Amino acid sequence: MAGLLSSVLEGVLGVPSAILGAPSPVPSGGMAACAAIAANTQVQMESWPVNQYTSQYSTARTHYWNAANADRTPACVVLPQNAQDVSDAIRVLLGYPDIGVAVKSGGHNANVGFSSTDGGVLISMANSNSTTISPDLQTAYLSPGATWAQTLAALEPYGKAAVGGRIGDVGVGGLLLGCGLSFLSALYGLPCDNILNYEVVLSNASIVNANATSNTDLFWALKGGGDQFGIVTKFTVRTVPIGQVWGGYRTYSSNYASQILNLTQDFTANFPDLGAGIIVTLEIVASNLDQFVTVFFFYNGPNPPPGSFDKFLSLPFTADTTKTWSYSSMLASNANVASVYGLRYLLRGTTIPNLPSTNGTDLVNANYNNFVSYVLKLGLLKSFYQFVLIYQPMPYAIPAASERANPLGNLLGLSTNYGDQMWMASTVSWLTSDGDSSGRSMITDIINDVASYVRAGYPNVKASNFQSGDLQAMFAPATFMNDAMSDQPVLQGYGNATYQRLKSVQKEYDPIGFFPGRTNGFKLT
Ligand SMILES: Cc1cc2nc3c(=O)[nH]c(=O)nc-3n(C[C@H](O)[C@H](O)[C@H](O)COP(=O)(O)OP(=O)(O)OC[C@H]3O[C@@H](n4cnc5c(N)ncnc54)[C@H](O)[C@@H]3O)c2cc1C
Ligand SMILES: *[C@@H]1O[C@H](CO)[C@@H](O)[C@H](O)[C@H]1NC(C)=O
Ligand SMILES: *[C@@H]1O[C@H](CO)[C@@H](O)[C@H](O)[C@H]1NC(C)=O
Ligand SMILES: *[C@@H]1O[C@H](CO)[C@@H](O)[C@H](O)[C@H]1NC(C)=O
Ligand SMILES: *[C@@H]1O[C@H](CO)[C@@H](O)[C@H](O)[C@H]1NC(C)=O
Ligand SMILES: *[C@@H]1O[C@H](CO)[C@@H](O)[C@H](O)[C@H]1NC(C)=O
Ligand SMILES: *[C@@H]1O[C@H](CO)[C@@H](O)[C@H](O)[C@H]1NC(C)=O
Repeated sequence: MAGLLSSVLEGVLGVPSAILGAPSPVPSGGMAACAAIAANTQVQMESWPVNQYTSQYSTARTHYWNAANADRTPACVVLPQNAQDVSDAIRVLLGYPDIGVAVKSGGHNANVGFSSTDGGVLISMANSNSTTISPDLQTAYLSPGATWAQTLAALEPYGKAAVGGRIGDVGVGGLLLGCGLSFLSALYGLPCDNILNYEVVLSNASIVNANATSNTDLFWALKGGGDQFGIVTKFTVRTVPIGQVWGGYRTYSSNYASQILNLTQDFTANFPDLGAGIIVTLEIVASNLDQFVTVFFFYNGPNPPPGSFDKFLSLPFTADTTKTWSYSSMLASNANVASVYGLRYLLRGTTIPNLPSTNGTDLVNANYNNFVSYVLKLGLLKSFYQFVLIYQPMPYAIPAASERANPLGNLLGLSTNYGDQMWMASTVSWLTSDGDSSGRSMITDIINDVASYVRAGYPNVKASNFQSGDLQAMFAPATFMNDAMSDQPVLQGYGNATYQRLKSVQKEYDPIGFFPGRTNGFKLT
């Protein structure tokens, strides 16, 4: 969510054409696996080098949120339309055990290699993009390769939505496998709480359903456990009602940063309305030290009632898209402002408590001030780094909604008893590969500072709305998978019991270790 920054760079430097260089040659092993898939299945494929200029090959290879993924050249792109196609491709791939595999839905995961491969087989779900609804309108069938803007646009004519992404061009597949966070979560729980069935292709090419009565271990594991269990070809989700919504974003001068942060602490501690949501992002462009604030607003209804956002809305702004419109149009518009296409990009997250009153407002300001002084001290001009600090309120109303929606529970270990949290994240984006290692270390420093500051400064302060529980557990919660960098121990953060059970489910459903061995992702090591 790097804000308006990339448009600045594009104007000056013509970024996208400059960085999408020619693909590198592919070793022969991958080509042999591709030839075997072509010979033995009906699945659509586009292969390097013969199809390298087809739009489907080049979109699959280059359309990534983090442009570093576009440096990699798959031997071929397999474009399944359904579970049988995926199964057929996997069956052939079992005969080529040394060839890497990557599964791609929306391509938004910033971690290089999670949904891209150099020399291996890229399974792009781009052609598995349908969205359908049951006759009684109570459930919808989502395909992983659609974006959230497409998915929600397909459901809107029925007056229904799925609990999904907040930015329109994120993919369905990856977001749901990380459990997800939605603007609708305070009403209906996290996206994964609303999944009733997963259609999955396992590593032995069999197609199974995982739900509350069938393959129940797998059903449990997929609610936050990630992508090491199988390839999901369809999600059955509960629909929720939707009409016109109010939202969009506003951009503010950084002179208002402290005021906005104090309002964010208050919004989280005194959560005004289950229909309300915000994402608060604070930007710095290192090349000119330009600083500003972008707040994304959402209200599930045509007009936010008085008290929801009044204090935010009374501040002077420099840009504004907020209005009453359809949910899918708002998400598509959010994608435009947040776009970093053409840039290299990393996202790193950490979960901290939202502290009450002055402790809380001091903390949100200290995190921001530490971030600003870290970036200003760098004085880095060469790679045009842009930094964003992100505050995502996690009021206890959200775990309360999860409990209502999903009595079986998800893996994240959230509890209403722990009170309110802030899901913090930071992003850095830059132009060229010579900035990669600094990008990694800087984003790691920024998030480490956020995580350690609260523990050092407020070791015995309880979160706002804290009721009971282990204070230490409250200070060591899991990092949200969808905001995590590849080295962050997301699955370990779910606690040892969950982690051990996940490992055994992984072995049960993938005894040959296909996914751990041949794909990237958050591993159960
Ligand atoms: C601008 C922006 C906004 C975001 N907003 C939100 C938000 O509002 N809420 C939220 O929860 N997250 C959000 N995210 C995070 C996002 O959910 C994750 O990056 C997610 O991994 C992206 O999913 P994808 O399908 O686009 O990614 P991909 O890169 O295609 O996939 C991500 C991972 O999932 C695996 N995978 C994908 N599809 C399948 C499948 N069908 N079967 C098995 N494995 C699969 C891939 O192999 C990869 O490891 C946002 C990210 C960005 C960059
Ligand atoms: C959706 O899938 C169909 C084939 O199933 C394909 O023709 C179409 O191009 C896909 N749409 C997108 C946006 O990729
Ligand atoms: C659960 O899986 C079984 C077995 O495949 C299937 O018959 C049933 O319809 C599934 N339930 C749901 C809610 O999809
Ligand atoms: C937290 O707030 C309490 C009560 O206002 C105050 O005594 C204490 O000093 C604060 N803690 C910190 C670290 O600021
Ligand atoms: C935000 O709250 C802090 C107290 O924690 C206060 O010092 C600061 O002045 C407030 N900021 C604004 C702009 O009111
Ligand atoms: C985690 O659980 C496993 C299995 O129950 C146990 O062997 C191991 O010692 C535990 N590890 C920690 C760090 O508690
Ligand atoms: C495929 O794997 C699953 C899970 O391990 C197993 O239950 C099933 O019997 C296997 N199918 C075949 C055809 O081997």
